[in-house]
Amino acid sequence: MPVLTRPENMERITTPALAEKFIAEQIADIRAQVGGSKVLLALSGGVDSSVVAALLIKAIGKQLVCVHVNHGLLRKGEPEQVIRVFKDEMDANLIYVDAVDRFLDKLAGVSDPETKRKIIGGEFIEVFAEEARKLEGVTFLAQGTIWPDILESEHGIKAHHNAGGLPEDLKFDLVEPVRILFKDEVRVVGKALGLPDGMVYRQPFPGPGLGVRCLGAITRDRLEAVRESDAILREEFANADLAGKVWQYFTIVPDFKSVGIKDGRRCDEWPVILRAVNTRDAMTATVEDVPFALLQRITDRITREVKGVNRVLYDLTPKPTGTIEWE
Ligand code: XMP
Repeated sequence: MPVLTRPENMERITTPALAEKFIAEQIADIRAQVGGSKVLLALSGGVDSSVVAALLIKAIGKQLVCVHVNHGLLRKGEPEQVIRVFKDEMDANLIYVDAVDRFLDKLAGVSDPETKRKIIGGEFIEVFAEEARKLEGVTFLAQGTIWPDILESEHGIKAHHNAGGLPEDLKFDLVEPVRILFKDEVRVVGKALGLPDGMVYRQPFPGPGLGVRCLGAITRDRLEAVRESDAILREEFANADLAGKVWQYFTIVPDFKSVGIKDGRRCDEWPVILRAVNTRDAMTATVEDVPFALLQRITDRITREVKGVNRVLYDLTPKPTGTIEWE
């Protein structure tokens, strides 16, 4: 049976050799646990679920059924990357669900941040449950639970975000192959499993995705402005060699407009807010000292390339007093 608690003397997985040893042990454990049954996994493309998917594909191949729900709030290129890496390269059994219209229709006109979060979380479970009910022979649910999730739920800091949530008729036994690992160890294991760096060293991304960065009631045009400006910011940070150095960076689009000039004409358009922060644990954060010339270049690109945007602002606020996300 799998080890459920991190042994106190467990060596931190920091090298490819230690990762390979862990992978071999997990493959044997997974095979012993699931036998010939099918295992279901919600594959978001985040680090933890991606590493779990790659491990299970190695252990049980097509007995793993991955479900990738595109809720329309992912970053540019993310659904395509999940399909490329898992379906095309690893030949996984992957169900891709285009639920974009469903989510955006439910969110239409909803401006309260907590209500938006609840709708996104609830709809995700509904879509996932619908897919699960279509399948036969599934006895297990795989989850990317990691050791800090266990510690935080034990200490009442946060509800165990992975476990639970599914309706009563869907009762599965859990497969949690990275539950005794810390985040840095999950990345080392992911690298050893051959996942691309862009997936393994991803910056944190909230579950409700771009939904917390498209402020107020989400509209398709403003959501596109968040997605496109975020892609430009990420590209420019990568070119400036900042991508691996800054902890988290993204863009926000508020739900108000201001006056500007484009092509000699007055225009009422949205601003884009840039956020780039450093932190150890996200409880406090400092603002990255981004070179002014780079900020100017990003401003120039966003105002020229992103539809409906006429200004770019840089958020200089540390946490506290600001949180990292704007919501
Ligand atoms: P705040 O805005 O509270 O964010 O300073 C702290 C960190 O948490 C991330 N965040 C989330 N991560 N699910 C997640 O996995 C969520 O719902 C969520 N909301 C915020 C945020 O991006 C930042 O890194």
